Amino acid sequence: MSKKILILPGDYIGTEIMAEAVKVLELLKAEGEQIEWSFGHLGGAAYDAEGHPYPPSTQKAAREADAILMGAVGGPKYDSLPRAVRPEQGILGIRKDLGLFANLRPALAYEELAAASSFKPEVIAGLDLLILRELTGDIYFGQPRGRRQNAEGAEEGYDTMHYSRPEVERIAHVAFQAAQKRNKRLCSVDKENVLETSRLWREVVIEVGKQYPDVALSHMYVDNAAMQLVKNPKQFDVIVTGNIFGDILSDEASMLAGSIGMLPSASLDVNNKGLYEPIHGSAPDIAGQGKANPLATILSVGMMFRYTFNRADLADRIDVAVKRVLREGKRTGDIAQPGEKIIGTQEMGDAVVAALKK
Ligand code: IPM
Ligand code: MG
Repeated sequence: MSKKILILPGDYIGTEIMAEAVKVLELLKAEGEQIEWSFGHLGGAAYDAEGHPYPPSTQKAAREADAILMGAVGGPKYDSLPRAVRPEQGILGIRKDLGLFANLRPALAYEELAAASSFKPEVIAGLDLLILRELTGDIYFGQPRGRRQNAEGAEEGYDTMHYSRPEVERIAHVAFQAAQKRNKRLCSVDKENVLETSRLWREVVIEVGKQYPDVALSHMYVDNAAMQLVKNPKQFDVIVTGNIFGDILSDEASMLAGSIGMLPSASLDVNNKGLYEPIHGSAPDIAGQGKANPLATILSVGMMFRYTFNRADLADRIDVAVKRVLREGKRTGDIAQPGEKIIGTQEMGDAVVAALKK
């Protein structure tokens, strides 16, 4: 049976980068892969079309799909909307609705782009790090939250951080299993010296770890992890952490790779159904100009074949094709060095398709 992919291009550069990812899907389908896809709205585009960032039509299609490919959402056009209908609520809504609790954010330093990074080459050369971020719990979704008057009569805003044992257990299992397939080192990041939530987190990770004696488990406070990531990122293999810490650390780690335009991500449910998206945002400043780097979106297609469709062969092929175009010197503006020739979004997509055919 044909695999159903729902494509949610989103806002601003989302549509441009997604068009290039579709070229890759078209090639694979032409080669005989049993895949089909349809389009839907998420984020600002969904608000414009249907009045909600995660409208019922998208919800239905997302639940029926085998995998979801997303561009990027948000931007200035939507900044003044009430919070409940802002584009971010589209992403948070689909994550929660589909139970996409395991967010995989690899940070890979491409040799060819070493000069584009703000780090010294020796600090990042060969870096291959995976951040595993819990995605449906923590202070992002904790209740109660809101505004109130405190005892002194002052207005205050408040949120609630919490994790339950089962929530920590399931992300811990994903993390240990990911580490088993890599270099067998897992660093769990928390704030155990201060937070109750982190105390439970650490206890549960240690317990789950007993089932994975082949994985070396370590623990680090999040503030130290933020420092170690820029000081000596190669000490890490897999990092597992909660939602808010993972949000922050994964943006930090993306800089190690040279450009945020290079990093794909996967958000998986318990059955490895997934939503795949580039880590970068909707880049309103360059939207509509054909300048955006489509590689993170194309690499996200690769992750989709690896994790949801169990086709490591196709995922490897896409990864190799991307490396090849980089080696050929193809550069969009975000990864170009002064003096290097800059190509556009479509040319980059075409170059990957050409490389895939070789
Ligand atoms: C991310 C983003 C989202 C998050 C925003 C857009 C809600 O920053 O995917 O990292 O905070 O999770
Ligand atoms: Mg973020």
